[in-house]
Amino acid sequence: MAHDYKSKPRDTFGSKFGIIAAVAGSAIGLGNIWKFPYMAGANGGSAFLLIYLVFLLILGVPAMMAEFTVGRKGRANAFTSFANLTGGSAWKWVGMMGILSSFFIFSFYSTVAGWTLGYIVRTFTFTDPTGPFVQPEGYFAQFSASGWLPVLYQIIFILFTALVVKLGVTKGIERTTKWMMPVLLLLMVIIVIRSVTLPGAAAGVSFLFKPDFSKVTIDTCLNAMGQAFFSLSLAAGVVLIYGSYVKSTDNMMTSTASVAISSTVVAVLAGLMIFPATFSFGVAPTSGPNLIYVALPSIFRNMVGGQFFALLFFILLSMAALTSTISMLEAVIGFVSEHFHISRSTAIWLSIAAVAIFAIPATLSFMPEPMLLPSWLGGKTVFGTLDFLTSNILMPAGCLLTVLFVGWGPGRKWFRDEVTNGGTIGRRWYKPLEFLLKWVTPVLVAVILVWGVL
Ligand code: PFF
Repeated sequence: MAHDYKSKPRDTFGSKFGIIAAVAGSAIGLGNIWKFPYMAGANGGSAFLLIYLVFLLILGVPAMMAEFTVGRKGRANAFTSFANLTGGSAWKWVGMMGILSSFFIFSFYSTVAGWTLGYIVRTFTFTDPTGPFVQPEGYFAQFSASGWLPVLYQIIFILFTALVVKLGVTKGIERTTKWMMPVLLLLMVIIVIRSVTLPGAAAGVSFLFKPDFSKVTIDTCLNAMGQAFFSLSLAAGVVLIYGSYVKSTDNMMTSTASVAISSTVVAVLAGLMIFPATFSFGVAPTSGPNLIYVALPSIFRNMVGGQFFALLFFILLSMAALTSTISMLEAVIGFVSEHFHISRSTAIWLSIAAVAIFAIPATLSFMPEPMLLPSWLGGKTVFGTLDFLTSNILMPAGCLLTVLFVGWGPGRKWFRDEVTNGGTIGRRWYKPLEFLLKWVTPVLVAVILVWGVL
């Protein structure tokens, strides 16, 4: 299986911007816009942001480079890349962990992504007395628990994702992310302008930028680490398979840096959309996961032009989610089609059918009396179990092993050559990168893993 992988032609991204748009599209998602603001809200505002940035640099960037290089050199999906590079040894199962992560994340991420479609539709009945903008709390509780409707939206979302992936790497993924990412940024800037010009918005801005270190605990640091990790789509076979579509002459260091920077910029913009508005309307910035589906709709209701801004907001949220789910599905179907030698289309249909088996129960986890898994499997809902399994176990373990593969394992032989394109670019960055990858990143990821399992 490993002998001829170098000579086979492979789809590649058409341009540098295409690579960055696709990877940044994966990185930028509900994690940045939904999770980051409420985590920052609960963890001391910009104190959290600062800690997050440090982890992005010492954990996120080295781990991303490790994945990129394995993919570019292995020239295949995560499983086959590791197999190609090690003559089919057990390392390939590290790749499989990533693919499984993407599969399971897709299953529960599509629940929340589906909600965004439901909210887009509801912006057209903005003043409905039973709708989310008049009765945010009651509506969200009732909608998320209503069973069939969120499942329907979820299925539509999954089909959208499949449609883009079906068009292929260049015509589907690259082309879609290349226009969606700039549009996303534009929509965010429009909403930020609206938000920071609300009366009393300054308090929200200073909440985001004035660090409150009194709120920082060890948990804050661990949360920031986990967030840096999830938000860069690490250890999900995604960066790896996208790396396999990168030409051997491209500079991966600058691509990684651009992705890390754009993901951070979007997280900060999300904070700037949300906190000035919450402060202006007297909503607690610490209201947790409900911030977006409950607190924001009530703010839109009371804001001049609220209906328009609500529509923009939920469109941008669903686009951010879509460019992420595309990458998850690509990681899965890349494996299915390459490993079983079937067409991309067949692989897509088979994969989304399998995803649905987990995805539908994940959405139904929000019903009044959801099915719980047996206690030896943790006793949580399907949604909670998939989240725990991926964020706390599969991803940290997969990332740790990938980083070790490159820093200490078989990958150390060619890592320098891959990063510097045979010694021709960015040589001065290589030493610090290697140092982090060997001594710092694995220790941090191991800490996340131990903390997450305990
Ligand atoms: N990075 C995405 C976000 O922050 O929403 C989440 C994600 C996408 C995780 C793709 C994993 C993945 F493979």
